[in-house]
Amino acid sequence: MYDEIDKEEYEGHNQMWTPSLQAIPMPGIRRMINMAAKMDDVIHLSIGQPNFPTPQHIIEANIEALREGQTGYTMDAGLPELLTELAEYYSKRYNREITEDNILVTSGATEGMFLALSGTAAPGRQFLVPDPTFTMYAPLIRMNGGEVKTIPTRPENGHQLDPQQVIDAIDMRTFGIVLNSPANPTGAVMPKEAVEAIVQEAAYRGVYVFSDEVYDHLVLDDMEYPSVIRCTSDLDHVMAVSSFSKTFAMPGLRVGWIISSQGAIKKLRRYHMFTTSVASTPAQWAGVAALRGDRSCVDDMVEEYRRRRDRVVQLVSETPHLTGYWPQGAFYILPALPPNTDGTSVAMRMLEETGVCVVPGDAFGDSCPNSIRLSYSASMEDIERAFERMIPWLAKQKF
Ligand SMILES: Cc1ncc(COP(=O)(O)O)c(C=O)c1O
Repeated sequence: MYDEIDKEEYEGHNQMWTPSLQAIPMPGIRRMINMAAKMDDVIHLSIGQPNFPTPQHIIEANIEALREGQTGYTMDAGLPELLTELAEYYSKRYNREITEDNILVTSGATEGMFLALSGTAAPGRQFLVPDPTFTMYAPLIRMNGGEVKTIPTRPENGHQLDPQQVIDAIDMRTFGIVLNSPANPTGAVMPKEAVEAIVQEAAYRGVYVFSDEVYDHLVLDDMEYPSVIRCTSDLDHVMAVSSFSKTFAMPGLRVGWIISSQGAIKKLRRYHMFTTSVASTPAQWAGVAALRGDRSCVDDMVEEYRRRRDRVVQLVSETPHLTGYWPQGAFYILPALPPNTDGTSVAMRMLEETGVCVVPGDAFGDSCPNSIRLSYSASMEDIERAFERMIPWLAKQKF
C-alpha cells in the first residue's frame, strides 16, 4: 500500500521541475495520513494541529471583518492595527522595546521560516539544525544551495539540545543556527541558560539564529518561556518566527510573523511581497481580536494539553518496548523503540493491524529512525483508546 502511494504521488519525476524541487522528500507525515485515509476506524495520534475549536470571539472578528468589506490587501508589512498589537504584546512579554518596524506579518510561521531561510541560505553557507526537527528547515536550506549540519538530540536526555554541542559545531562556514523550542517532534523546551548560551555565542561569532517559536505559549511546566528575543541584547543576529496557529487554535487562518532588526524586516518585506504579498486581511483582524481579547481560552487549552501530557507520559511508561521522557511543551512526545528497530515499519504495521496512526521518527531527520511521534492533540478518550490498542499489540512484537 505504501509503495503504491509513494510512487503515485512523489516518485513521478517530471522533467518540468528543478532538481531542487524534485529533491524535496515525501513528508513522512503525509505518507501515514494517506495510508490512514484508506482505512476505517483509525485513531490519530499523528496530528500536528490543535484539536480545539477556534475561540468564538476570534471567529466573530473574522466574520465581522468580511462583512465590513475588509477584503482588500493590507500594507505589505501587515495590517497596521495588528502590527501595533503585536509590538505592544511582545514589548510587554519580553520587557524590551519591539516596534512595528521590527515585525513582518506573514501567512503563518511557515511563510516566516520560508522567507528567513530561503532568503539567507546559499552555497557556502552552513546551517546548524537540530535532528530530529520539524520537516521544513533542512530541505529549504538545501534547496537554496545551503549546507545542513545536524546536531542530534537523544531521548535519554529528553531530546534537549546541548548548547555546548551547538557551539562546538560552529566553524568557519557556519552562517546560521535553527532553533525550535518547544520542539516538534520532541516536545522539548530549551531552558533559558541554553538559549542564552547559543544566542550570545552566535552573536559573538557573527552567526544568525533562526528561531521557530510557533509553540511559544504551549509550555506545560512552570517555567518562563525563553524566546531568543528575551536572550539577546540586539535583534541584529536573530529572527524569531511565530504565529496564531497553535496558541489560538486557528492554523487555517494563516497568520504569523517574523521579529527581527528593522534592517532585516525591511529586506524581508520585499521578499514577502514577491511571495504571498500579504496575509489574509480578515484573518489578520481575527489576530487583532485574539491579542485584544480575553486570553483565558489559551490558559484553558494549555491546561488540557498538560493533563493529556501527564497521562501520555504515564501510558508510554506502561507500554512494552517504548521508552519515553518528560516533554515540557507543544503537544508531542517522541518515544524510542529498542535500538535498531525500524520505526517506519513498526508505525505502518501498527496502523494496518490496530488502526492507530503515529508518525515514524525518520520523518524528522536521520537520528531517530527507531522512534515514533505521538501527538496528544487528540481527545483524552482517543488517547486512552489508542493505547488500549497499542499496548497489547506492542507486547506481542519481538524486536
Ligand atoms: C515547528 C513548527 N513550525 C511551524 C509550523 C507551521 O505553523 P503555521 O501554521 O503558523 O504556518 C508547524 C506546524 O506544525 C510546526 O510544528
